[in-house]
Formats: sequence, C-alpha cells, structure tokens
Amino acid sequence: MKVVLIGYMASGKSAVGKLLAKESLLDFIDLDAYIEAKEKKSIPTIFKENGEIYFRLKEAECLSELLNSKNSFVLSVGGGTPCYGKNMELINTLAQSIFLKASINTLCERLKTGKASRPLVAKISNEKLPEFIGKHLFERTPFYMQSQNSIQTDGFTIAEIVSEIKRVLV
Ligand code: S3P
Repeated sequence: MKVVLIGYMASGKSAVGKLLAKESLLDFIDLDAYIEAKEKKSIPTIFKENGEIYFRLKEAECLSELLNSKNSFVLSVGGGTPCYGKNMELINTLAQSIFLKASINTLCERLKTGKASRPLVAKISNEKLPEFIGKHLFERTPFYMQSQNSIQTDGFTIAEIVSEIKRVLV
C-alpha cells in the first residue's frame, strides 16, 4: 500500500505521516528528505545553488522512482509537488492520495516559526505572510483538490487526523 499526503507547507504532512506510518506498520518517507539525501544538499542549498527548476526536476524524478518501486509506505510530498508536470496524475495512479486542508491562519502561525528551511517563504515578512499564502493557495488548491480524499485538519489533533485517514483509506 502506498499513501501520499498532500498539502501546503506546514499543513502537518510530516507529523501526520509519521504517526499514520507507525500505526499502519508502514515506512514513512519525506520526499524533501529523500531529495536531500540523493543530492547530498539541503533544500535551501539546492534552491540557492541550482535554482527552483532543477529542484522541480529532481522532485519529479524522486517521486516517480518511489511510486514505481514495489515498496509500501506513507509518503509526505512537498507543498509544490502536486502542482508540477504530471505529478498529481502519477500519484493518483500509483497510490492513494489524501489532501490535508488547513486554514490560512493556521498555516501562517506555523510558517512564522518554520520559514527559514523553506526557500519560497524565507524572505516574506510575517506581516505579508497571510496575503502570500492566500494567493499561493488560490493557485495551488485546484491541484490539491485532485486528491482522492480531502481531510479538514483545523481543530483536530494529529491522532484524530490519523484515525480519519485510516477510515477513508481503502
Ligand atoms: C515547497 C515546499 C517544501 C519544499 C520546497 C518547496 C513548495 O516542502 O518541497 O521548499 O513549493 O511549497 P514542505 O511542504 O514540506 O514544506
């Protein structure tokens, strides 16, 4: 079984993915960490030294490699992964996809403290974050909505989100 967690930066994909994997006795893979291990560079360094287009190419390559493997896992992808090339089509063909929805407010509060490791928001001031996230979500939501399941995460604990995911998984 392959489960792919989709959602904006700081939507809780990694925290939820780790618990879901533990409870389902599956491996947990974070796509960004997988790319970093392959490239032997952090995500901010890849963006700085090679640029975003190079990152998107590596991201698509690594996603395809994982999805085409025989392994079972819970995979947390980056916030931008579903929005490029045929990534979303590939995810829905080879895995079960779950979109973790969170409000602009929730994402904003979390991103204020987690900006440094995320090159797309690192230079956005805290005051400008809500507008940036709002616009970005407007562009990205149509891709996220192609997921086979959508789960509202605001106001729920990680354990509650995991049990909801287990309920919808087939
Ligand atoms: C990105 C999200 C990041 C990472 C990269 C680009 C994006 O992953 O892939 O910085 O385009 O939204 P997280 O969603 O895990 O922060």
